[in-house]
Amino acid sequence: MQEELQQIKNSAIYFIMEATSASELEEIKLDFLGRSGKLTQIIKDLAKLPKDSRPEIGRLANEVKWAIEQAIEQAEINFQTRKIEQIRKLDISEPGIKPPLGHLHLVTQAIWEITKIFSQIGFERVRYPEVEWDLYAFEGLNFPKNHPAREDLETFFIKAPHSETFGPMVLTPHTSNGQIREMKKGKLPIKMLNIAKTYRRQSDVSHAPMFHQFETLCVSKGISISDLKGTLNYFAKSYFGENRQTRIRPYHFQFTEPSFEVDITCGLCSGKGCKFCKDGWLELGGAGMVHPNVLKFCGIDPNIYSGFASGFGVERVLMMKDNLNIDDLRLLYANKLAILEQF
Ligand code: PHE
Repeated sequence: MQEELQQIKNSAIYFIMEATSASELEEIKLDFLGRSGKLTQIIKDLAKLPKDSRPEIGRLANEVKWAIEQAIEQAEINFQTRKIEQIRKLDISEPGIKPPLGHLHLVTQAIWEITKIFSQIGFERVRYPEVEWDLYAFEGLNFPKNHPAREDLETFFIKAPHSETFGPMVLTPHTSNGQIREMKKGKLPIKMLNIAKTYRRQSDVSHAPMFHQFETLCVSKGISISDLKGTLNYFAKSYFGENRQTRIRPYHFQFTEPSFEVDITCGLCSGKGCKFCKDGWLELGGAGMVHPNVLKFCGIDPNIYSGFASGFGVERVLMMKDNLNIDDLRLLYANKLAILEQF
């Protein structure tokens, strides 16, 4: 009898714990404690026991009954609170939790802004391969065979068979390959804006091995240095502010003649000269008139057509514009939210 009681208790508690609904609990309750329930039956049978063992078995039976009742009560409470929680989850009047809002990467924002500025004066954004043939990255741009940029000192070369016509493969060291690609299409006039990733073997606080450039190319009849100057000023004023000016200084590039380095008035001292600039000027990038050899290489007659080109660093203009106090340019690409979230 004692064993039987113990078993009843164990199985009742097992079923209660396994129950998945209040109606199931009700059934279990009936099954054990109901009028013809298992425990009720035993209590009824107590009368048949010898007198001296009745009190002990009786006490045990009561204990079992109490334990089962307690377990059922607890399970009922659990169901109740779960139901309340479910209702709470559906409470549409509760104040919502705002999902965190991200933003485009700083460099992407700059690229979009630059694209918009140039599109307003008719420059069309183009894209060309970033794994490129030497022919487009160097040869067509009038680089002599022994030019240092063609050595792996500065350029990343791809481990791939050299092509007889196109030469070795490289990661674009500048966006000027876009000039050759665009002119070779044979469609004139040209007003292109090539923004792309560029790669050079350099890595320090102001250089990342991967960075971005934006390249303009304008080819038509009668294009002159004043068109270049006007475009540069338009860009400087649109991107940096109305009161900024540009100047061009003689320089050298293989693919432009004459070539220039472009400066912009310092935004901090307005061109007066301070410790952040060179006598009031900051370097923007390179530019020049398309070299006749380059036009010829692309099948364009330099006696009829002329053009200008410019190539600036996206990260560079971005840092200059906002006076971003990033003491290591490579942090832009470190994928650290703690840094990017600040902007
Ligand atoms: N490709 C040059 C550089 O990377 C910049 C440039 C572009 C210069 C177009 C002149 C004309 O430094």
